[in-house]
Amino acid sequence: MGGNKGRKLEYLIADALKEGATVVVTCGSRQSNFVRQLGAACAMHGLRCVAAVMDLPFDSAAGKPRGAHPSGGGNEILNHWLGVELHHFPDDDWEVLYQYAETLAFALESKGETVYRIPVGGSSPLGALSFYEAGREMLAQGVKIATVVTASSSGSTQVGLTYALASEGVKVVGIVSDPEPEIVHDFVKIGEGLAELLGVKPLGPNAFLLDFDSVGPGYGVSSPEGEEAIRLMATREGIFLDPVYSGKAFAGLLRLARKGKLEGPVLFWHTGGMPTLFATAD
Ligand SMILES: Cc1ncc(COP(=O)(O)O)c(C=O)c1O
Repeated sequence: MGGNKGRKLEYLIADALKEGATVVVTCGSRQSNFVRQLGAACAMHGLRCVAAVMDLPFDSAAGKPRGAHPSGGGNEILNHWLGVELHHFPDDDWEVLYQYAETLAFALESKGETVYRIPVGGSSPLGALSFYEAGREMLAQGVKIATVVTASSSGSTQVGLTYALASEGVKVVGIVSDPEPEIVHDFVKIGEGLAELLGVKPLGPNAFLLDFDSVGPGYGVSSPEGEEAIRLMATREGIFLDPVYSGKAFAGLLRLARKGKLEGPVLFWHTGGMPTLFATAD
């Protein structure tokens, strides 16, 4: 059931083990692919996995999006089998969700647990380092690519790929699943941490090529063009995308290609998300 978080978790779980953690605490949406993959990684290494979740967290400035969104089932079923300890909170702003996660972490610490905190989507500098390595791995395969297109949200996938590929003349275009243009500041911040790990000069906001035109109704809510892209990939290639991230990303790729705005050859970096196809619409 994989996805882009496996690479991040190689680094994050290694760090958690190095720190002597007994429990890992994170947060996300109820259908978070990160929470599910973290649950699997924790299970493999004997760590407790605790997550604060909301059905559909949102950015107050943009407002809560309307429309059907994946709710129960899907990743939630996998979390059940993995033994992830989910704490459900009523829908609210992302910042409120981060506070709930911190409250859970603090409560565990006061009970004597050694807590390792992981930000939403695993987007810490270490998470980005894993995708820097992924970009280097792609270059080492000798493929000649002008543009990489990928889904982008919490940022470390695109940040890592951009640090690895921009200096090699490969553009990395992130098709964003969140409506707030300010996320670029988060990307810069993650990048600064990565630059420190790599010992290189940090990149500014213009280095991150973000496309917001496939967000649709908002984060977590599927869009007609995303569903059309999922159907096209499934019926042509037998490959599954998801309604929240990779389907919208592929829709963005198609839109840019149709307008002649993508320099080829283009590589579509599939970030996973397939379990959400099994989630029931709210
Ligand atoms: C399937 C899928 N694609 C893309 C992303 C976005 O990756 P990132 O959070 O590193 O920007 C996520 C996670 O948020 C995801 O679950």
